[in-house]
Amino acid sequence: MAFYITTPIYYVNAKPHLGHAYTTIVCDTLTRFHRLLGEDTYFLTGTDEHGDKIAEASKKEGCPPQDYVDYVSALFKITWPKFDIKFSDFIRTTEPRHKEVVSRFLEKVNDKGDIYFGEYGGLYCVGCERFYTEKELVDGLCPDHKVAPKFIEEKNYFFRMSNYQDWLIDYIKQNPDLIRPERFRKEVLSFLSEPLEDLCISRPKTRLTWGIDIPFDKNYVTYVWFDALINYITALGWPDGEKYAHYWPYAEHCVAKDILKPHAIFWPTMLQSAGLPIYKHLNVHGYWQMDKDKMSKSVGNVVDIFTLREEFGVSAVRYFLMREMNFGLDSEFSYKRVLERYNSDLANDLGNLWQRSITMLKKYSGGIVSSSALSSLAQDSDWENTLKLLVKDYTIHFSHMRPSEALKRVWEFVSSLNKRIDVDAPWELAKSEDNRQKLDLVLASLVKGLALIGALIWPVMPITGEEFWRRLGLAPESITLDSAAITLALGHGKVIEPGEAFFKRAEKEPEPGAKEKQVSSKDSKEKAPEGRPEVITYDDFAKLDLQTGLILEAEAVKKSEKLVKLTIKLSDTLRTIVAGIRKSYTPEELVGQSVVIVANLAPRELMGIKSHGMLLCASGPDTLSLLTPSREVPPGSQVS
Ligand code: MSP
Repeated sequence: MAFYITTPIYYVNAKPHLGHAYTTIVCDTLTRFHRLLGEDTYFLTGTDEHGDKIAEASKKEGCPPQDYVDYVSALFKITWPKFDIKFSDFIRTTEPRHKEVVSRFLEKVNDKGDIYFGEYGGLYCVGCERFYTEKELVDGLCPDHKVAPKFIEEKNYFFRMSNYQDWLIDYIKQNPDLIRPERFRKEVLSFLSEPLEDLCISRPKTRLTWGIDIPFDKNYVTYVWFDALINYITALGWPDGEKYAHYWPYAEHCVAKDILKPHAIFWPTMLQSAGLPIYKHLNVHGYWQMDKDKMSKSVGNVVDIFTLREEFGVSAVRYFLMREMNFGLDSEFSYKRVLERYNSDLANDLGNLWQRSITMLKKYSGGIVSSSALSSLAQDSDWENTLKLLVKDYTIHFSHMRPSEALKRVWEFVSSLNKRIDVDAPWELAKSEDNRQKLDLVLASLVKGLALIGALIWPVMPITGEEFWRRLGLAPESITLDSAAITLALGHGKVIEPGEAFFKRAEKEPEPGAKEKQVSSKDSKEKAPEGRPEVITYDDFAKLDLQTGLILEAEAVKKSEKLVKLTIKLSDTLRTIVAGIRKSYTPEELVGQSVVIVANLAPRELMGIKSHGMLLCASGPDTLSLLTPSREVPPGSQVS
């Protein structure tokens, strides 16, 4: 079996925020879950870079659209790995491979006779990049952007979407889980009970040039949604690519309800017209809200994911997002709620289970699991059935797109093991040698339970799951849900140590920027040493990504005597760095200088501006001096 999942490709007019992170983490989690099942997976994400909205945003930033999209797209691309998100491919709609596929697709739909030229007047929302009918507006305003759409009248190309209305209704009825959860399927069918209009798929170049040319009329560019949806097949190399043949039959899209209509109506009708099979599932989730409003850049209520990550650690952020939101329903975000879940589910339930179990294993059995107890346990049908049922329920929940339910089920098991410790009281059993067998059995069941939990949480919390396995003496690369394989691997006879607590209790609501509370081997290794060591290893040095950059713009930061905001060109991206060098350099002196920057420093906010890196300077007695390469090298050259 194969598995192919996609996130929406995100508009590059906003930086990644919690809403984007949620969908992307859902897709990463699902991909990992399918990998656990032994399937061949492919996970696609990327950025949507054409259209009015992006053209306007780049104008506002005062930079050419290509530079602007390069910069924001790179931000998305470098953000995801910081959340343990491992995509197979990152697609950008400005790439040549995509432009080619869009042209081919348009030709195909045109050859079918499904495109015509006509005049259209309608109410257009720039934010949504689409026309609205009067009925769809709320008090005359766009329901998402809360602004009055503009009336626009012009000649354009249209896709005969209406021809496919009856076919689509039948297709949705015959494939009951095509759109899930059910409420969104109903919403789409109800929308389709009214006559469907044709889709305007072009924009005249007199109004917009930032798009993909319509292949049969160079005076027009392609409507951004028609362009964007096609990304899902571009990445697989449609029409002849091997990946297309292999993965497309298993395609799953994951989106929030804001873009239900393009995915549930435009996309399947486009596919049908071009003669391609329809995706397998459209998975639709609700909104993360703040004070009952959708979290979005336009409302200005977005949660900074980097601060959240700094405060709680990646595993806890991923866990919170997957556990807290019921897939399909809206969820209210609050720091208080993150803290509650962190303390109750992670520190108390999971962290304590680990600590109690392995501390007792150490104390009563020298940290070694008895292999005869492991074998007896494997013969215990009650215990084995409990594990089997757990894995089955978990698998069903994930397969039906219910990550929160899957985790809830795992936590029921965590609680049952915590209770088992209280009931079996190993400390009592340890008082008499007569109870040795029973004690070994209890300890073995705890260790086996923890190994299985490590595998079950791995799709959601990869670092923690892998660290469970590592500390249990198991190879994280072989992580599995298979009970017999776990038993076999646990019979290694090595000493297991409890190690540092996985999730230390957080006592109060953390302030933004507070210390990371999650402890795992990876995180602790990454902690900065106190004071500077006399010697560091080459590996320590190699962690620094030092690059040359060219300062394109420099602007004094208002209300600060020291800070200057710099736009720096690296090899193919632009960086914003805020540097405290104004007392030594005027902004004019800085423009055009080649500098050396630390490119992989965690972003920091200075006077409300996010700084993505640091300049290297030598500190003289009363002035700073920028480090600059002594010969000319291209921006983005590695410094080592
Ligand atoms: N570019 C289009 C998608 C084209 S796909 C062919 C687009 N981009 S977007 O940047 O606006 O991203 C929208 C998506 O971001 C949502 O569908 C959802 O996946 C995610 N979210 C953005 N804000 C969100 C919330 N407040 N809550 C949950 N998800 C959110 O639309």
